[in-house]
Amino acid sequence: MSETSSPSVNTTAPAPAEVVKPKIGSYRRHLLICTGPRCTQDGQSQALFDSLGPKFKAAGLDAGDLRVKRSRVGCFAACKGGPIVCVQPDGTWYYNVTEANMDRIIHNHLVHGEVVADLVFHQGPDGSGESGKSCGDAA
Ligand code: FES
Repeated sequence: MSETSSPSVNTTAPAPAEVVKPKIGSYRRHLLICTGPRCTQDGQSQALFDSLGPKFKAAGLDAGDLRVKRSRVGCFAACKGGPIVCVQPDGTWYYNVTEANMDRIIHNHLVHGEVVADLVFHQGPDGSGESGKSCGDAA
């Protein structure tokens, strides 16, 4: 009688490495800016992103109820007319966000909840700003 041995099967899966759950601070809005290579070519978007920390602090958007989180993205598939900025959860997409236009977006939209209508190239399904107003609307 021949002895055959079947390979042993280890049915015990290795213990998974512990995955650390990330944390982020609470925020009112999230501003996303494309720093990809096509909507601007001269580093203008990165410079704009770098300016946001002091601008948000001066406007009181770095903490508290109106805190705005900011992030860079690689491409929105819009790819022209940059710098391109998206403000969530309002679903508002801005183009041609120069330093001066960023100041308008900060003051009107991020602080007062009023979309800067002449800079919008797309409005998502969530409406416009906190109050549903546009700064181009009659009072
Ligand atoms: S590279 Fe900026 S939207 Fe595509």
